[in-house]
Amino acid sequence: MRVVYSPRELQNLLKEEKGSIGFVPTMGALHLGHRTLIEASKKENEITVVSIFVNPTQFLEGEDLDAYPRKEDADKKVCELSGVDYLFYPTVEAIYGKDEVHLNAPNVRGYIMEGTSRPGHFSGVLTVVNKLLNIVQPTHAYFGKKDAQQLMLIETMVENLFMDVSIVPMNTVREKDGLAMSSRNVYLNEKERVEALNIIKSLREATQMIMEGERDVAKIKQEMFKTLTPLAVEYITIVSRTFEPIDKVILGNTVILVEALSGTTRLLDNIWV
Ligand code: PAF
Repeated sequence: MRVVYSPRELQNLLKEEKGSIGFVPTMGALHLGHRTLIEASKKENEITVVSIFVNPTQFLEGEDLDAYPRKEDADKKVCELSGVDYLFYPTVEAIYGKDEVHLNAPNVRGYIMEGTSRPGHFSGVLTVVNKLLNIVQPTHAYFGKKDAQQLMLIETMVENLFMDVSIVPMNTVREKDGLAMSSRNVYLNEKERVEALNIIKSLREATQMIMEGERDVAKIKQEMFKTLTPLAVEYITIVSRTFEPIDKVILGNTVILVEALSGTTRLLDNIWV
C-alpha cells in the first residue's frame, strides 16, 4: 500500500494505473462499516483508493471537529490489511486554499433534516467530495446508506455536474444488537449506548407497522417518537427515496430517517422500505 499526502502526486500516480478505480472516502476512525465499503471496492475494481480526511468545512462552529476521533496508525493498519492500494492522507492546507470556490447544497433538500440542525454541513460535504472525486477520478465511489441524506445529495451533485463516476450505495453495517456502526459511537457511555438502541427499535417497529398494512406517515412517526424516549429526537422523517415529502408510505420508494441525541452524541439511522 502506498500512502500519499499530496493531491497532485496521487493524480499522477493514478494516471499510470490501468483498469477501474474504486474509491472509499472517509474521515478515518475506520470500523467494520468502512471495511465493508473497502471490500466491495476491492471486489469490483482493479485499484482501490481510500482517503482519510477530517473535513473542517462540514463541521459547524462548536461541533466536534477537534475532538473527532483520529486514529492514524490503526487506520493505516486497517487499510494495509484490507489490501488498499493507495491511502490518500492529505492535510487541510493541501485540500483548501484561502479564498475558494465553494459548492452550495440544494436549497431545499440540503437544508431539511440534518441540514436544519447543521446548516451548511452538506455544502461542506459536497465541496470536499467534489474535490476528492476530481483528485481520484474513480470509476466507482462507495458510500454508506446510513448517511442517507448525504448519499442522496452526492448522487444529485454527480448528476447535476455531469460527473463521470458511479456512486455505489452500501447497506448499513450494524453491531450485533442492531446499533448502526459509526465513528461517533465511541463517545457513548454505557447508559447512552443502551438508550441508543431505541433508534433501531423505533425503525424496526415502523417496518413492522408497514408490513401489517399501516401507510399513514403521521401515525408511524407518532409511534416511533414514543419508542425513541428518552433520547432527544432531532427529527423523524419519512420521505421518498429522492427525499420528497410524502403523507403515505410507498412500498419500494420510502426512507424512514431518525436523528437523535444520546447524551450529547448525535446518532443517525434509517431504513429503506
Ligand atoms: O461520510 C463521511 O465520512 C464524510 O462525510 C465524507 C463523505 C468522507 C466527506 O468528508
